[in-house]
Amino acid sequence: MGVPVVLLVSFVACLLGCHREQVRDAESVLSIEAPMGKQVEVPYKRNAYGKKIVALTFDDGPFPATTNRLLDLLREKEVQATFFELGTMASRYPEVTKRVYDEKHELASHTMSHKQLNKLRANEVATEVSQARDVLRGITGEDPKLVRPPYGAINVVVAENVGAPMILWTVDTEDWKSKDASAVLERTKATVFDGAVILMHDIYESSVDGAGMIIDELRKDNYEFVTVSELSELRGVELKDGEVYGSFRP
Ligand code: NI
Repeated sequence: MGVPVVLLVSFVACLLGCHREQVRDAESVLSIEAPMGKQVEVPYKRNAYGKKIVALTFDDGPFPATTNRLLDLLREKEVQATFFELGTMASRYPEVTKRVYDEKHELASHTMSHKQLNKLRANEVATEVSQARDVLRGITGEDPKLVRPPYGAINVVVAENVGAPMILWTVDTEDWKSKDASAVLERTKATVFDGAVILMHDIYESSVDGAGMIIDELRKDNYEFVTVSELSELRGVELKDGEVYGSFRP
């Protein structure tokens, strides 16, 4: 008679334990005071309190082989990143876009087809943005909030028609040029600062390797990784449509 009771007790304990773990993951947040006295909350496990914070951002995907490997790596290292996806690529690989979204990364827009927006007419700019938004919403049910204009190419017409905050970058890893993980790490270490936005591309194997090295190395230097929206919130910056942002210093 003793054995079933013990089994039952451990079964119930396990249930409670599992449940508690889920609640902790879903709801535990750390409330911290941002500049300007604004209280903001960040998920507990990211634990950015007392750390320098940066955002890892990945453009031009999704591309199944490399993006999925990157997602595995980010999950293993418990890092949330920001993905500026192309509408054309997301419509080709919706299951990868869905995984980005489901795993709580920030899904953002890199426009529909990577045109240089400052060479387009107003209505063409709006179309590049709205088509990508429709594709991403069709996959996740949610509109992306942020846009990264291809090549960082912006003018007044773009600003007036993009209808979203425009996110550029302050650390250019030049991963597309070097295709070398060590070079990506070195460029990052040489130019990173508290509040930086780091530009990479999740379509190269070397960028995935570089991202892993960046996470390990910057953590040794008291950095933690957050999404772009979290970075702006933590720094008390309200993102406005048509404005340009490249970093969020303390
Ligand atoms: Ni791009």
